[in-house]
Amino acid sequence: MDYENLMKKCIELAGKAEGAVSPNPLVGCVVLNSDEKIISEGYHKKYGENHAERDALLKLSEDEARGGTLIVNLEPCSHFGKTPPCADLIIEKGLKKVVIGMKDPNPIVSGRGLEKLKNAGIEVIEGVLEEDCRRLNEVFIKDMTENKIFVAIKTATTLDGKIATASGSSKWITSDGARAEVLNIRNRYDCILTSSSTVIADNPTMRHKTKVVLDRTLKTDFKTANIYKEGRIFVFYDEKLVAPLEHAKNLNFIPCPIENGRLDLEYVFEKLYLEEGIKSVLIEAGGRLNGSALKFADKIYHFFAPKILGDNSGKSCYDFRQVEDISDAENFRIVSAKTFSPDIMLELVKSDSVKKF
Ligand SMILES: NC(=O)c1ccc[n+]([C@@H]2O[C@H](COP(=O)([O-])OP(=O)(O)OC[C@H]3O[C@@H](n4cnc5c(N)ncnc54)[C@H](OP(=O)(O)O)[C@@H]3O)[C@@H](O)[C@H]2O)c1
Repeated sequence: MDYENLMKKCIELAGKAEGAVSPNPLVGCVVLNSDEKIISEGYHKKYGENHAERDALLKLSEDEARGGTLIVNLEPCSHFGKTPPCADLIIEKGLKKVVIGMKDPNPIVSGRGLEKLKNAGIEVIEGVLEEDCRRLNEVFIKDMTENKIFVAIKTATTLDGKIATASGSSKWITSDGARAEVLNIRNRYDCILTSSSTVIADNPTMRHKTKVVLDRTLKTDFKTANIYKEGRIFVFYDEKLVAPLEHAKNLNFIPCPIENGRLDLEYVFEKLYLEEGIKSVLIEAGGRLNGSALKFADKIYHFFAPKILGDNSGKSCYDFRQVEDISDAENFRIVSAKTFSPDIMLELVKSDSVKKF
């Protein structure tokens, strides 16, 4: 049986709920009958709603799945959460085989669902397209195993890595197709984060339900800047200053300690994760903020337009430190390359993240 193809289907189904299930994982499920024909599909659609296995199994009549196979990208749960355990329902419906992509990364529950299924005499096949399944739920894995926010950076540059000319001209480097993809990428993250400089230079709207602006000296215009017009907004600023007393209800001002003259990014990320329940952040800023954030980055989405500025005066997309020896460079690994004609996008992860994934 081609379980890899069926697992791809699960990943595709799971992906339909991007942006709707956080802090839960993305999960999709396919059910085969005893003749190995697909009889149902399901996915976890929204936080608090049915898990993928339940969604798929409850579409079937009482005995339809008996003797069949269930394929799912994540180990079925064995505990009572917002819904009853999926492992129990699988047993009750009489399936004879369960194929999973990866174990539950939560160290406290990992393996328990599989144990329950095996104890009930169900054959379990593990690790089908495991790396793809892990990539799909990389935010959830980091949340469960490291208790930290997942940090991604999006940047759009010329072929020579510039985000703007020396005079600051930058709109638009990439094409409409590339910019449409940025909207899909934003949807995968709990919030987007940008800087005071980018707000002042571009006056972007950055459509998203939660936005974070780093504005150490409170120099952006909180009344008129487009970014503040919609969404829930967190503004981090130097804790020694006083935030405006009167401001729109959607703005939350958070005092922040300073490190080397800049807002302490580690503090910003911890605050968002621990106090606001934000599990992932997409940074969309210029070279200076990107440069400072690079050491925290789990992932980069780098769009390249086939343009060359060709001098040293343009702004670099990662402005951080002078690397003297090539062996001291920050290393990333390319996990995908997509074309948004005439541009391309590379998706990169930290080169040592293979251990984590
Ligand atoms: N092509 C792209 O993908 C893209 C995306 C966004 C922006 N841009 C362009 O980028 C340009 C701005 O780039 P930029 O390098 O001048 O600015 P930037 O990297 O967007 O922001 C730098 C500013 O962020 C604030 N900041 C707060 N905490 C920081 C920290 N820990 N580390 C670093 N910065 C911190 C600082 O301002 P304070 O301390 O004063 O608050 C600093 O001046 C604009 O022209 C914009 O068009 C391009």
